[in-house]
Amino acid sequence: MVSIPDVVLNDGTSFPELGLGTYNLRGEEGTEAIVSAIAAGYRLLDSAVNYENETEVGDAVRRAGERLGIARDDLLVTTKIPGRDHGYDETLASSAASLDRLGLDRIDLYLIHWPNPSVGKYVDTWRAMVELQKRGTVRSIGVSNFTEAMLVRLVDETGVFPAVNQVELHPYFTQAALRAFHAEHGIRTESWSPLARRTELLNEGVIADLAEANDVTPTQVVLRWHTQLHSTPIPKSASAERQIENADVFGFALTEDELDAISALERGRLWDGDPDTHEEM
Ligand SMILES: NC(=O)c1ccc[n+]([C@@H]2O[C@H](COP(=O)([O-])OP(=O)(O)OC[C@H]3O[C@@H](n4cnc5c(N)ncnc54)[C@H](OP(=O)(O)O)[C@@H]3O)[C@@H](O)[C@H]2O)c1
Repeated sequence: MVSIPDVVLNDGTSFPELGLGTYNLRGEEGTEAIVSAIAAGYRLLDSAVNYENETEVGDAVRRAGERLGIARDDLLVTTKIPGRDHGYDETLASSAASLDRLGLDRIDLYLIHWPNPSVGKYVDTWRAMVELQKRGTVRSIGVSNFTEAMLVRLVDETGVFPAVNQVELHPYFTQAALRAFHAEHGIRTESWSPLARRTELLNEGVIADLAEANDVTPTQVVLRWHTQLHSTPIPKSASAERQIENADVFGFALTEDELDAISALERGRLWDGDPDTHEEM
């Protein structure tokens, strides 16, 4: 089993340096893929209402307990509020429905999936999340796809900083300015699509050269780059073998020059997901 180190979030809770993406892991196969990741050493599971797999994630948590003896409290379950559930009362209701589908009594990390600025309700949504945290049904609260200006607005209007901002981040879109803002304010960065969805990234010469030099795989080079940038990547893999490969990245370190060489692949967002304009319901 791979050992994944933890960091401490701004609310005092421990949070793994690497987790499992679960987009498209659904049905019996999806549940078993999540169980295999837990067996490999993953503790952070990233779900969302819109992935339609909260039931599978909850089932995987229970199977890990029964089959592997891994306690529920050793696992961190993330889910995310969809745009259609923004608003104070809507968020309270949405969280209850998520808990029901998960079959759990607590969400470990609850995120606003997209800010949907045209809806104009992400601050009300955030207030409800603060309330849910007080009630104890949610342990840590955060956001996803928020810009610096949106983070500032949340804090100005509620006084509460998110613990996490999960954003598109990979060597083609390095988010240097947003990461610096997060570091200044104690917000943990989480990288979605950390492998750039296996596009040509893994064939880039610089990645291949560093893989050879460090006797690791291209994927391991990319994921180690994320962790050394102080971001938690959540690579998705349905394969037990690739899950182990992806988690086993803490036994080597890249130099500053090597990190910079990877970051030089920067070319911008890959999927047109500008939070100021992109809306997801
Ligand atoms: N907050 C948001 O708005 C948002 C948006 C997008 C994604 N996410 C989250 O981020 C997670 C990760 O992003 P993602 O799923 O889009 O992309 P990703 O993790 O960058 O890439 C996943 C792809 O890479 C392949 N892969 C994984 N490990 C590999 C390896 N070692 N070698 C070769 N190929 C490998 C996977 O195939 P196999 O499964 O066959 O291994 C899959 O096709 C999602 O699952 C989701 O939880 C969040």
